[in-house]
Amino acid sequence: MNRRKFIKRSTMAAAAVALLPGNLPVQTATAAAPASSGASGTGASGTDKVPDYAKHMLHSDMDGLGPDGKPTGQKATYTGASKANATVEKAMGHKMKLTRKEQAILDGKDGEEKAKLMKILVIFGNTFGAEKLVDLGGAPHSNMFIGAPYMKSMIKMLDECAKAGLKSYATYTVNPRPYDVYNVQNNAKDMTMIYEGYSLQWDLDYVHVRLGAPDLNYRTCACYLEEVGNAPEPGTYVAWAESSAVNYGNSVLGVRTNRTGAGMDLIQAMLGKGPLFGLMTDEGRMAKWLVEVKTSKEPDWGAVGTAIGRKCVEDVPYVTGLDKYFKDGKVTADNLHLLKAMGSATASSGAVGLYHVEGVTPDAKKMGKKLLSKGYETYVIDDKEQARIISTFENLWPDKNADPTAAFIGCPHNSYHEVIKWGKLVTEALDKAGKTEAAIPVYMFMPNTVRARAIEEHGELISKMKRAGMVATNMCGVSYAGMKGFSERVRGVTNSAKTRTYSTIRYFPDDALVKIIVTGKIPKGA
Ligand code: F3S
Repeated sequence: MNRRKFIKRSTMAAAAVALLPGNLPVQTATAAAPASSGASGTGASGTDKVPDYAKHMLHSDMDGLGPDGKPTGQKATYTGASKANATVEKAMGHKMKLTRKEQAILDGKDGEEKAKLMKILVIFGNTFGAEKLVDLGGAPHSNMFIGAPYMKSMIKMLDECAKAGLKSYATYTVNPRPYDVYNVQNNAKDMTMIYEGYSLQWDLDYVHVRLGAPDLNYRTCACYLEEVGNAPEPGTYVAWAESSAVNYGNSVLGVRTNRTGAGMDLIQAMLGKGPLFGLMTDEGRMAKWLVEVKTSKEPDWGAVGTAIGRKCVEDVPYVTGLDKYFKDGKVTADNLHLLKAMGSATASSGAVGLYHVEGVTPDAKKMGKKLLSKGYETYVIDDKEQARIISTFENLWPDKNADPTAAFIGCPHNSYHEVIKWGKLVTEALDKAGKTEAAIPVYMFMPNTVRARAIEEHGELISKMKRAGMVATNMCGVSYAGMKGFSERVRGVTNSAKTRTYSTIRYFPDDALVKIIVTGKIPKGA
């Protein structure tokens, strides 16, 4: 599915929740709490007729695709929480238990704005069958990063919260901006399109500053990188948005979050509370799939992730056969990109919010195969299956046989290790070919804090990369690829399976990508 459409729809879902009071059951002073003070909610009884639009709150339009690339008919929910078995009818009758303090907030003790936020959160929790709210820890991560007109109502709501002095319970991280007018789109045509299309970007950035986000140097989808520092302890409840960050956080860090939608992330950040359901619970973290990776060589991490996402959609997989690529079962700054690549592919080709890797990820280290739920299914990814998945990656360039025009590396954003690795790979290959400049521009996506470290520690290499035509940028590459006219203008190549899913950019393994960057040609058989 088109990412812009997806972002828009996810956002609309959160907005829809905000616009619903009265139609879904909100706790009333008498019904929900052990005790309460003051005015109640709307007094909705939970017996109103189910509104037509209610079903859209429960399921996104993200379809599962079979290994042949065709839809399987399986739909993903917005939260990656199929275990909640949410249905509209159930949601109409469900009521979470609130503590006295929570009820008091709902009743307006901390002001009108916070009461409204609590009302939205309670409706949201009821919708997914949550039993209660839990205190959030660590720090939030928000994917409210698009300042386009369709986000107006959401930005306005957040602005009202900021004006009322509300703030996130901790300094939070935010996805990269959707453009970069300094390093990439620094031309009149693109800038005009950007300033017209993202006319609310300033308002959105201003909201973030007041609600507790740091400066723009920390903008990234890979908030868990050490140069950014949002990596809460295992077991911490958080309300993260951004599918790749949620997927990495739940799986590799062992935090507990659902696939929170844009807007709901900040509502929970301002309340410091989240409804307990789905991937935040022990039950929701059980694996329905045993995925056995049996490739004869190191797997193509993006292809394996795509295979898992298509097969499991939003169910939790328990993956075996990968521990040998992580010395002593440790995920380090030098190897985390492997799971980042695989995980983001599971989250974009499907809607996987959590996976376990045997002997590597925290839940799997603790519980091993006990994480497999009763009646689990098995999926084997061997050389043949991996090749089959790659063969379904269509060439979507309008001129299929033309030469590529640009390379895109870093979706999710590059780690420091990846920047240095790619710098060396490309400049050494150019040296070998007797060249100083790549045949096509290479956009390297990373947070500014990673770029700053790379300049400081590898100044000479970074200068060489720059001279070779490698451009460091802190924007979202997929947003760039989503710009009007991009696919007609640019024939992109990438090593990101996520970028492939959301754009017309073609996917290649690292070794082929290096050759393409040096020669400007697609190698035969690649
Ligand atoms: Fe990050 Fe944008 Fe890719 S937010 S994960 S670079 S789609």
